Amino acid sequence: MSRRPFIAGNWKLNLGPAAAAALGAELKVRLAARGDIDVAVFPTALSITAALQATEGAGISVGVQNVYVEATGAFTGENSAAMAREAGCTYALLGHSERRHVFGESDALIGQKVHASLAAGLLPMLCIGETLPEREAGQVEAVIHRQLETGLAGLSEAQVGTVTLAYEPVWAIGTGVTASPEQAQEVHAFIRSWLRERYAPWIADETRVLYGGSVKASNAAELLSQPDIDGALVGGAALSAVSFAGIVAGALA
Ligand code: PGA
Repeated sequence: MSRRPFIAGNWKLNLGPAAAAALGAELKVRLAARGDIDVAVFPTALSITAALQATEGAGISVGVQNVYVEATGAFTGENSAAMAREAGCTYALLGHSERRHVFGESDALIGQKVHASLAAGLLPMLCIGETLPEREAGQVEAVIHRQLETGLAGLSEAQVGTVTLAYEPVWAIGTGVTASPEQAQEVHAFIRSWLRERYAPWIADETRVLYGGSVKASNAAELLSQPDIDGALVGGAALSAVSFAGIVAGALA
């Protein structure tokens, strides 16, 4: 079963509209002649329109970094999935480690956000991953199991089939310490076997599981050559068109 590679850039709280437009325009040029691969970027909500306009016609999808569980109402400061969809987003990034650990989002809340995103027609990209103390305590599989079980709770098989997963060990995010290809592959293989047992072989075969955590042009090809690593979710190295295009090239190598 061959899964189409997927490289996603998480711009985090960087790049206001002008800077997002500039990077989008550069990506449009640098990624014009790429091969068979999906590419998405996740700007801050305020820069979604600018990124969409700058990348129009380039086959680059745009996603929102977070959504609230309700569509409208007295929830000052939040963005809803329906509004992100209306603004032109294709994907919703959910459960990123910064949402979990900086903003205290629970597995259950993230599961609600998965439902809200699907209801609005957004494709969820669900992030999961253990902290360093959890890894050192031998809890990697237990944490991944819990995050998947709760994050996907109540979805039909067909809905699960629309979710992209991103394994991002918290200790590797923004630290320059990448999981070794073998460490990442081990967890990705666990995720795939979990999907096979919990749902169905077709879901395990077709779900794309991206790796994230200090991915850069120099390590992308080796990570992505692992059998169960289908792409990358890139933070710091997604803020430069040169390095992001280098990662896309690495995925096709
Ligand atoms: P990083 O971030 O590539 O800067 O480690 C990845 C992420 O947070 O998605």
